[in-house]
Amino acid sequence: MTKVLFVCLGNICRSPMAEGLMRKYSEEYQLEIVVDSAATSRWEVGNPVYSGTQKILRKENVDYSQMFSRQIKLGDFELFDWIIGMDHDNVDDLRAMAPKEYHHKIHLYQEVVPGKEDQAIPDPWYTGDFEQTYRLVKAGLPLWAEKFASNKS
Ligand code: 4NP
Repeated sequence: MTKVLFVCLGNICRSPMAEGLMRKYSEEYQLEIVVDSAATSRWEVGNPVYSGTQKILRKENVDYSQMFSRQIKLGDFELFDWIIGMDHDNVDDLRAMAPKEYHHKIHLYQEVVPGKEDQAIPDPWYTGDFEQTYRLVKAGLPLWAEKFASNKS
């Protein structure tokens, strides 16, 4: 079972959207994966998914009622096979936290998207544009699924 962790700053906007959409995608295509998400910060710990992301997940029929912000912990680097940050700060923070032996598990969300390999998912907490987040996350789902199937992090 492949284990995937999406990570952003607050774990209320981008990474829960990626978690919810990837969970739905994996059910649709019967992928053998476990999906979770976490924050690099402690700012929103315990808080539910933010309203802009709720709206997107509701439209997609994804249940977010049990999703609450949590901060990444050391054990996550061992447990998960793929740890995917939404922007460069997330990836830098993850690299700073993770023991060296797990650095190969850390990735940037859009690195699988042709032509956008080094681009961030802009933070809708600041842009207000949750539709943009949705479009960008959605475009990455099949590309990540392919990568997970290849089993090489
Ligand atoms: P996220 O967005 O990292 O996509 O969940 C944010 C949510 C909260 C804050 C920043 C970004 N905040 O400053 O509390």
